[in-house]
Order: sequence, then C-alpha cells, then structure tokens
Amino acid sequence: MFYPKYRLRRLRRTENLRRLIRETQLSVDHLIYPLFVVPGKDRREEISTMPGCYRFSLDKLRSEIKEIEDLGIPAVLFFGIPSQKDEVGSEAYADKGIIQEAIRATKEVSSDLIVITDVCLCEYTSHGHCGIPKNGEIDNDSTLEILSSVALSQVRAGADMVAPSDMMDGRVAAIRERLDEEGYSHIPIMSYAAKYCSGFYGPFREAAESAPRFGDRRSHQMDPPNSDEAMREIAQDIEEGADIVMVKPALAYLDIIYRAKSEFGYPLAAYNVSGEYSMIKAAAAKNWIDEKRIVLEILTSIKRAGADMILTYFARDVARWLA
Ligand code: PBG
Repeated sequence: MFYPKYRLRRLRRTENLRRLIRETQLSVDHLIYPLFVVPGKDRREEISTMPGCYRFSLDKLRSEIKEIEDLGIPAVLFFGIPSQKDEVGSEAYADKGIIQEAIRATKEVSSDLIVITDVCLCEYTSHGHCGIPKNGEIDNDSTLEILSSVALSQVRAGADMVAPSDMMDGRVAAIRERLDEEGYSHIPIMSYAAKYCSGFYGPFREAAESAPRFGDRRSHQMDPPNSDEAMREIAQDIEEGADIVMVKPALAYLDIIYRAKSEFGYPLAAYNVSGEYSMIKAAAAKNWIDEKRIVLEILTSIKRAGADMILTYFARDVARWLA
C-alpha cells in the first residue's frame, strides 16, 4: 500500500497512538549499573572525567546500594581500585581484596540485588595490563589461571555473576571449569565477548586507574573495523559456556549488536561505556544538547538494535526518569 491510499502519519498524530505503535520499550528491568569501589573510609569522590559518577569506600557504598535497590535497578557491576598493585594483580584474587569486601558489604544490605564482578587484571597490575606480560607480550595461557582464581575468589565472596573483560582466548572455558570444580555450577558468566580496542574507554581508565604503563591493548582487544571476527568471538564464548555475551562499546557498534542478536539469538548485553557517557555529560554541561532526551534516545537505540540488557552509567538517572 502506498500514498495516497496509505498515510504513515495517521498513526503518529497523538501520543496515545504513538504509544500503541511503539516497538521498543526501555525499562529499568534491563539496566546494570557499574560502580567503582576504593579502600578507606568516608570516601565518595566524584570522578573528574565522569561527572555524576563516584568512587565509593565500603561505608559509603552501603547507602548507595540501598538507593540503587530502591530505584528498582536489578544489577550492579563492580570495579575495584586496590590499595596495592603488583606484577600479577594479586589483590584481584585476595580473600580480603577490595572487590571481595565490596561484595560482602553489598550482601549485608541487599540479598536480592545481582552483584556482577568484572574479571580483569588491569586495575590490579602495576603495569596496567589485563594479563601477564612475558617478553613484551601479554601471555595468554598463564593469564587464564590467574583469571579463573579471580573469578573463583569473587564468587566465594558472594558474587552472583562474573564478567570476564580481559579478552584472552579461552578465559570463559577456564573460568567455567574452575567454578564447576569448586561447586559453583549455578553461577552464570557474562562474557565481554566482542570487546573492541576503543578510544571510548578513556574516561574509565582515569576512573579505575587502569591505563597501561607501556604499550596498548591492541594485541587482545578487537580491531574496530572488524565485524565477522566479532561473530567468531561470540561463537567461541558461547561454545565455551558463556551465559550472556556482550558487545562493547555500544553506540559506535550498533551493527555488531544487531548482527549478534540476529545470528545467535542469545542473551545479549551492550556496554554503554565511559566515553559515551562523558561525551553527553560534556555537551549537556554546555547546554548544547538535551541530556535526558538524548540519553533515552541512545539507550532505546541500543535496545532496538538487539541488546537485551544495557550496562550504563546513566542507569540511576534513567530509573528515576522512567519511574
Ligand atoms: C577492563 C575494563 C575496561 C572497561 C571495562 N572493563 C577498560 C579497558 O578495557 O581498558 C571500560 C568501561 C568503560 O569505558 O566504561 N577491566
């Protein structure tokens, strides 16, 4: 049917007509809020590159967790900034490590909130790399052992789900095997399956103090021009036992999100990363854009592309706006 018999504008005339026709619904149900945790007391420090985001010490974290729960956000993702860094990132798998303590503190105030932990070494290593360097390169297989120890120690502390973000080959299988052996076969893995080597992580690296001291992450994170390769990454992670696969970043990779959902029909997360957040904050601070409108538009687009859930620093704002 074509014009003049058919007029698409007929169903756009009023808000109620538009509501009836609306295909994609943004909901608080599908949001995951990332949080940064630091040692010490009475710390709630705004991250200079990410206005509106904070680093919390454990005491301050507790009240933050209550608010997040009251807003109806179902899950948080924890990043830890340890007091000490070393060559192998040992605080990442220490029983009294910052993340392990943050998980316990969270569980004291909320048993329902889903606690997801980032499994990576870059925040914990003195060199800032996601794995163990050997002869100037990140050594894949020796890193796997440490990563599975990190995941195990987080789960022992009470994490409900682990999210490996290092992009080593075989990490999902290594973590799955270790968790199963230790009696945690019920704990899901959300794998950062297609994680690109992106300039959009800039503000995060300041927030997490995780910028590499030498070199970069190009030898393990994906090359942005590639799309077929992302499908191979996702296929491998599913084969290795990932329960949820992730595409990261989100906004500049909507095609990857769309392909991933169409080709695999698997639970899919998209990470609306720090650079995507900070760009909007900066433009909004100058009154160049309408922040709320743009955030809702972008997050809806990420869902429309095919994401089932979104990790976003806007989760708190969105929960409030949608309430
Ligand atoms: C690695 C990790 C990074 C992010 C999440 N997990 C940083 C990186 O790979 O350099 C980026 C998140 C963001 O930019 O919001 N631990």
